[in-house]
Amino acid sequence: MDTFTQSHLTGVAALSAEEIDTILERAQYYADQLADASYRSDLLKGKTILSLFFEDSTRTRVSFEMAARRLGADWVNIDIDRSSVNKGESFLDTIQTLLAITQPHGIVVRHKEYGAPDFIAAHAPCPVINAGDSWREHPTQALLDALTIKQHKGTLKDLRIAICGDIAHSRVAASNMILLTKMGGDVRVIAPEALMPDKLAAEGVTKFHSLEDGLPGCDIVMMLRLQKERMEQSAIPSEAAYFNEYGLTQDKLALAKPDALVMHPGPMNRGVEIADDVADDPHRSLILKQVANGVPVRMAVMDLLLNKP
Ligand code: CP
Repeated sequence: MDTFTQSHLTGVAALSAEEIDTILERAQYYADQLADASYRSDLLKGKTILSLFFEDSTRTRVSFEMAARRLGADWVNIDIDRSSVNKGESFLDTIQTLLAITQPHGIVVRHKEYGAPDFIAAHAPCPVINAGDSWREHPTQALLDALTIKQHKGTLKDLRIAICGDIAHSRVAASNMILLTKMGGDVRVIAPEALMPDKLAAEGVTKFHSLEDGLPGCDIVMMLRLQKERMEQSAIPSEAAYFNEYGLTQDKLALAKPDALVMHPGPMNRGVEIADDVADDPHRSLILKQVANGVPVRMAVMDLLLNKP
């Protein structure tokens, strides 16, 4: 029997390993259905999902919308940049106004403030799904990364996974550390001192300060963008110097296992954290598979949260 008891998805920290398995199994079901590009379901017919992106997004926003529409839901997209937030309305007043107008059955939110999805969840009468808040969590990104790894390696357990780059400012790194250690992965993070937090988001993760030390034996190499929008000042001397030490090239990738696969949540900064020929390597790069998996994973999350009796 499926295990899933959550009312919201504001982080993977709240999920048990069994609940993560339930989401991934449901997501694989939808991934199989989506092999037919015309697949549609009316599972969420008559339900309204409110989309609140207070930060920019391409992948997450589009795949949430695709997922909602594939399940037959009505998707209400608020153009925050042109809303009355700009006229001094409080965050809570904006949320309560939108709840009163749209009467949603689910809310998807991205916000730069730590804990904004939990704040909305405390005031909303429906499930809230976090599409990324500050550097805290990006749960559906970690779930789609896990689905992609499972599809290509068959398991998450006992895989050695390196997450490399701006660990300090990355919600993707935080959610992946929590999820992958929970599922039995051997997780390591690789970053310069200035981009390595003192305390990591999960116990049991090993820190390294060079690709040479951290990549040997790795099954998965996950690269991260420098999150400049969350840095108070530049944490690196120059992008060229950073690429020289921390950019993933074919030579650096050769330090990992011969069948190691490369991931990146996007958006990528080519020539800063990853070389073109690694990002585009048809045998090693899973990057476009990750973005495609955003749709079935978000369908699974909406199904499990909104389709309750
Ligand atoms: N990975 C990710 O969250 O990408 P977007 O910012 O484009 O949604």
